[in-house]
Amino acid sequence: KNDTLKYWYGGHEIAAKLFHHILTVSEEGKGAREYLRKRGFTKEVIDRFQIGYAPNSWDFLTNFLEKRKFPIEEMVACGLLSIREFDQKPFDRFRDRIMFPIWNKSGDIIAFGGRVLNEGNPKYLNSPESTVFNKSETLYYYHKARQNIRKKNEVVLFEGYVDVISAWRAGIENGVATLGTALTETQTKLLRRTSDNIILCYDSDNAGQNATLKNAAMLEAAGMKVRIGKLPDGFDPDDYIQKNGPERFNQDIIGQSLTLMAFKFQYYRRGRNLQDEGQKLDYIQQILTEISKLTRAVERDHYLRQLADEFSISLEALKQEQIQIFKGRK
Ligand code: CTP
Ligand code: MN
Ligand code: MN
Ligand code: MN
Ligand code: MN
Repeated sequence: KNDTLKYWYGGHEIAAKLFHHILTVSEEGKGAREYLRKRGFTKEVIDRFQIGYAPNSWDFLTNFLEKRKFPIEEMVACGLLSIREFDQKPFDRFRDRIMFPIWNKSGDIIAFGGRVLNEGNPKYLNSPESTVFNKSETLYYYHKARQNIRKKNEVVLFEGYVDVISAWRAGIENGVATLGTALTETQTKLLRRTSDNIILCYDSDNAGQNATLKNAAMLEAAGMKVRIGKLPDGFDPDDYIQKNGPERFNQDIIGQSLTLMAFKFQYYRRGRNLQDEGQKLDYIQQILTEISKLTRAVERDHYLRQLADEFSISLEALKQEQIQIFKGRK
């Protein structure tokens, strides 16, 4: 059992070193270097995040691990290698991909996310789940960001590796990522344990925005103070930083992060034409429902006034309606 762990961590560690080496110095790594350069990955970032490149070969890592006497069954079990159906021969799982090591809380590499260069399917090939890699318990870069999260008492949560890395270049050293939009209880507990405050900074597409709403509710229920880093349509954090630069990301997205209620005011507007009377009333109803969930009277009053001002409705009418909704819920 202990040997197994030694081989699994050791295999990932040495594979990461090898991929990093291939990326940074080899002829085969040229295309990957060029790709990363175009995306703004600096030498410093490539080193810090131990980014690598798995060459376009079926047996490159397999041969390397065999030579180093890593037991092949263990290398298959931990997902570094795969097994060919017809003759049970091992082969490299990751080929021609940019390799992002994924660490556990203690800083051991437990998996890889492998990205195709340019377009291609699947965009990310991740290591399979195993006893050491549980995707839904992992927060990318947590092992390094933890100290900074504690210091600031604030964490910035992203969807992807690349967002964490770009944000780091923008000076945000308390960023971590769920590997996709799903947030689990385990991850929530880990975040809660480390910080009181969280800024959710997911992609602006529908999946990202829907997940923002859902995850924010979970994090709030766990007792965290949630704010939203809201990106313009069509952007993810990395896109925004590429287009507008790190300073503006810091100022406009993190600095101007929204309260959860302000986010909801915007969220429920999506796809609605507020010039249409029916849609406008639906929208108002939806916001009143959200206001009814607030426990503090001062907060309810604040948002009711905001709604009253925006739609030129009497505060009295809104209050009455909101109380009706509240009673209906009970
Ligand atoms: N993801 C995944 N498998 C996929 C797509 C996404 O595991 N096929 C996870 C990855 O952890 C990824 C995150 O979801 O980092 C966010 O996905 P996406 O927004 O599609 O990728 P980006 O982080 O924007 O990557 P890039 O900028 O390189 O396209
Ligand atoms: Mn290096
Ligand atoms: Mn997305
Ligand atoms: Mn994205
Ligand atoms: Mn992206």
